[in-house]
Amino acid sequence: MSHATASKRIRARVLVIGSGIAGLHTAFRAAEQCANPGDVVLLTKRTLFDSSTNYAQGGIAAALGAGDSPALHRQDTLAAGGILCDSDAVDVLVSEGPSRVRELTEAGAHFDVGPLGEYLLGREAAHSERRIVHASGDRTGAEVVRTLVELVRADTRITIIEHARALDLIIENGACAGARVSERGHALEVIADATVLATGGCGQVYLRTTNPPVATGDGYALAHRAGAELADMEFVQFHPTALDTNETPLALISEAVRGEGALLLDANGVRFMPAINELAELAPRDIVTRAVLHAQRATGGVTLDATRLGEQFTTRFPGIFAVCMERGIDPRTQPIPVTPAAHYMMGGIVVDLVGRSTIPRLSAVGEVARTGVHGANRLASNSLLEGLVFAERVAHDVMQLEPLAHEPVLESWRVPTPPDRAISRDAAQRIRVLMWEHAGIERTATGLRECLAALDAIVAELPAGATEEHNLALTAQLIAKSALMREESRGGHYRSDFPLPRSVWADRHVQFGAGKKARRVAS
Ligand code: FAD
Ligand code: SIN
Repeated sequence: MSHATASKRIRARVLVIGSGIAGLHTAFRAAEQCANPGDVVLLTKRTLFDSSTNYAQGGIAAALGAGDSPALHRQDTLAAGGILCDSDAVDVLVSEGPSRVRELTEAGAHFDVGPLGEYLLGREAAHSERRIVHASGDRTGAEVVRTLVELVRADTRITIIEHARALDLIIENGACAGARVSERGHALEVIADATVLATGGCGQVYLRTTNPPVATGDGYALAHRAGAELADMEFVQFHPTALDTNETPLALISEAVRGEGALLLDANGVRFMPAINELAELAPRDIVTRAVLHAQRATGGVTLDATRLGEQFTTRFPGIFAVCMERGIDPRTQPIPVTPAAHYMMGGIVVDLVGRSTIPRLSAVGEVARTGVHGANRLASNSLLEGLVFAERVAHDVMQLEPLAHEPVLESWRVPTPPDRAISRDAAQRIRVLMWEHAGIERTATGLRECLAALDAIVAELPAGATEEHNLALTAQLIAKSALMREESRGGHYRSDFPLPRSVWADRHVQFGAGKKARRVAS
């Protein structure tokens, strides 16, 4: 039994897969350079609003304040990245960022501004300046998505297909010619001169995550199966302050709350961060995350005390206020229970400064791409910025491509029949538990080996039709293999059996290519 008997085919100049900031911006800017309806096809797995972008709270980092500069932003980004950043990519990010944010404002995004129209800038960890542009206090991502969705919907040159999940890339003569897609269970081939993966991250690989259900690592898996180079997959960022509940995903309590003075307390009410780092609650994310984990273990729980903000909490963080109140916590008077959670993937598909992957005609942008701007640890609010800045570049670059020399002829194919929901749900849950326990905030060789063996066993039993769970498992394997290979601690990757950075690993990346095996390469 299959879900479809014959595949439908559509043709585009540019196929964009994913509707977060990276995909929406790429589609909108590429379409501006096109002439015909449907020249750009924008696919998304669920609705246009299902993305990490839509949940982003803190904001977009850009050197827009008096006294700030791209040079200072560059310095902070490189310091957070633990030697592994690509400095050319960082230059692009920080120097083009301010213009992209201003253009998005001109395109209709309502960011918070003061009486003279100046951006109101928030502070977040490891930024030496206030440089976080935000909207409605803590609803920045939703405002970005609202703005970009209006633009793509108004443009007839863009065909939008929701509930369309890319299953695999079409590779012809070594180049990408589009994707095989399941559109509500029906087979669809999208043939394109350029294909852009903007599929976001993979937080769903972990039991505890801030990422929405769509973040199953599809883009990494599709690219890896097609033979593209991927790197830095061991560098997963865990956010220290998700709201401590049993929900999936966990609601985020933005770092901007700490930026406004909230304090982390252990279960005895003792503030622990000043003894660990001079920047206290605003130390780099990996340091705060491990400190929260240790305080949880030692005392049984951690809270974020924002009571000093009083009434101001309701206006500065209206979204977080509502989330807390719905769960019976009043942040004006009560500390908020918090816990670390998987939040962001620093690694991904290796791309150049215009988003080209190692496969011709395949680009990647946003969280799924590894531009090198984050190195081993992303600076807060640099992700939305990366999506915006590099999407602009990708949109211009893909329009330079010549049309495909000839239309690919594909063997007939069908969308594999999904297994019983209980089987796929159980496999996904086993992967998440394994990854949280063995490839999470603290890792060891023994745990990672155990994790990899168990992942192999899950994959061996997984029915072929469980396509999303196969992607989850493959992404998990890439993370665990990279983490096992990197015998040191750096940025978001912490090995308790190698707790310090090691010079033999400085400037070295774990990379996967066409041979599919992990290898160690120089920067
Ligand atoms: P996403 O926004 O995740 O979009 C990916 C898209 O691809 C989705 O539409 C998804 O449905 C689609 N997709 C995936 N697989 C497929 C497939 N196989 N076929 C078709 N479509 C597919 N960063 C900041 O800079 N500032 C912040 O304040 C901030 N806050 C955050 C708060 C939360 C709760 C979370 C989860 C993240 C936050 N981040 C923040 C990180 C940031 O939001 C993300 O890294 C960024 O939005 C990623 O954008 P993207 O366009 O690459 O991917
Ligand atoms: C947050 O608001 O704490 C998230 C910011 C980010 O992930 O960059």
